[in-house]
Amino acid sequence: MKFFIDTANLKEIEEAASLGILDGVTTNPSLMAKEGIGGKAMIFDHYKAICDLVDGPVSAEVISTDFDGMIREAFELREIADNIVVKIPMTHAGIKAIKYLSDHDINTNCTLVFSQGQALMAAKAGATFVSPFIGRLDDISSDGIQLIADIRLIYDNYGFDTQILAASIRHPMHIIESAKIGADVVTSPLKPLLALLNHPLTDKGLEKFLADYRKNNP
Ligand code: G3P
Repeated sequence: MKFFIDTANLKEIEEAASLGILDGVTTNPSLMAKEGIGGKAMIFDHYKAICDLVDGPVSAEVISTDFDGMIREAFELREIADNIVVKIPMTHAGIKAIKYLSDHDINTNCTLVFSQGQALMAAKAGATFVSPFIGRLDDISSDGIQLIADIRLIYDNYGFDTQILAASIRHPMHIIESAKIGADVVTSPLKPLLALLNHPLTDKGLEKFLADYRKNNP
């Protein structure tokens, strides 16, 4: 399973990368805005800075909602670095753009996916990644993890190689459940990712080991 970090914060990306377990980064316009990044030059510089920090895929989202605009932006974003993946929303124009970009060997991440039908269309269009938003489904009393399971079944039935990227992660159990169900990638904020490291028995056990060591090594 690949671990991506879902942030545009350079310090958080550095921290996750320093663990040696980071496979990529996803961003979106809201995460860029949170960092105070605005204006085309600043946005492109920031993507470049992120791409310099990680070797793996870095998702950068288009702002256009029409096909021509998406394609124009995709080719511009692609110039920033080889590891840029163009993030395209799941819309009528978005599917056409994903198909076009896939035919031109440009990696895409189909975002804002909330249903099995949307995921099937993304795979048919040749998306590199599909991003079901599990937290936002849970937020409206739907079942985000079940959607991952359903997409896994559909993709396996037909051998689609679109990678399932579990997004909108709220807590560490979203990561665990996504792993159990067979998501290819999880993109998480730093906090749930680091929470996977913790267990009270680990802390207690280490405390005891060190106390016992000190008995004969004052
Ligand atoms: O990057 C897309 C997704 O992970 C957004 O998450 O927390 O805004 O629902 P969230």
